[in-house]
Amino acid sequence: MSLTSLDAKVKLRDGKEIPQLGFGTYELDGKDAYNAVTIALEAGYRHIDSAEWYDNEKEVGQAIRDFLKRSGLPRSDVFYTTKLKNNVSHEATLASIKKSLDLCGLEYLDLYLIHGPWGGRTIRRACWRALCEARDQGLIRTAGVSTFGLRHLKEIIEGAGGTDGTDSEPLEVPVVHQIDLHPFQTRTAIVEYCKEQGITLEAWAPLVRGMRFNHPVVKALSEKYSKAPAQILLRYSLQKGFVAIPKSSSKTRIYDNTNLFDFAINDEEMKELDALDEGLVTDWDPTNCP
Ligand SMILES: NC(=O)c1ccc[n+]([C@@H]2O[C@H](COP(=O)([O-])OP(=O)(O)OC[C@H]3O[C@@H](n4cnc5c(N)ncnc54)[C@H](OP(=O)(O)O)[C@@H]3O)[C@@H](O)[C@H]2O)c1
Repeated sequence: MSLTSLDAKVKLRDGKEIPQLGFGTYELDGKDAYNAVTIALEAGYRHIDSAEWYDNEKEVGQAIRDFLKRSGLPRSDVFYTTKLKNNVSHEATLASIKKSLDLCGLEYLDLYLIHGPWGGRTIRRACWRALCEARDQGLIRTAGVSTFGLRHLKEIIEGAGGTDGTDSEPLEVPVVHQIDLHPFQTRTAIVEYCKEQGITLEAWAPLVRGMRFNHPVVKALSEKYSKAPAQILLRYSLQKGFVAIPKSSSKTRIYDNTNLFDFAINDEEMKELDALDEGLVTDWDPTNCP
């Protein structure tokens, strides 16, 4: 894996590749989503993260399609992710996938995630089977999960938690797990388990949603490397081997967040950042839901 440019990609356990720096679109609505994604693509991002929940799949898909048309680049040059909002049933999941596909108009979804682990074990496993089926049908290329706790991951991967031996067979291992990861929320046990399983970790809130830019350790590194706190946090994420998906609505900051490839945080400083873990929840945390 090369950390030298915005083109850096991570190889997934299913053999596909994902651009290591992506662009998040949470809280970008309508025209703002279209404009921000257009700027991001023009800045060189080739990985865009959306979700049924964000209610912007149409505008995000349109921005990607317009960019591809303008630039003459093939569909395969942009990696597009979206996510399942409601965990209801196998059939409802397949219907949601088809709806997301229609909305974005992108032929296929590069990555589709179960957004969160609600619904209980039986429903989670049914939804996961539906993702695998959609992958086999070619609607999605890669299937994964998001904000799952250890227990939820083990239910799928090891068949854990079943009663009376029913529905207890191991299912396919999710390829990607998107979860909040940054120095103030390191989720060590989940990260270790995912690494053992060969699951690629995607860091949401890699900028800590702006809540710790003034932390003394972050500020000291910012001064040392003449980089903004946001760039220190993103560089940390990339050096951890995570796929990072920062969001911004500002053209300047969208570009700033790509300026990460001319410095490196040393090992001692990486450990210093790791030691800042305070289990900070910046938005939501369903990892313990039943
Ligand atoms: N799976 C999940 O449950 C889940 C949950 C949350 C998020 N996500 C995904 O992960 C993406 C990133 O997470 P996030 O949006 O919550 O948080 P984030 O990327 O950590 O932080 C975004 C915030 O940082 C600000 N910002 C961006 N660049 C900056 C810079 N260079 N300097 C100063 N401030 C900067 C943004 O403000 P401006 O817009 O004003 O620049 C925004 O307020 C989301 O957009 C979404 O795609 C997934």
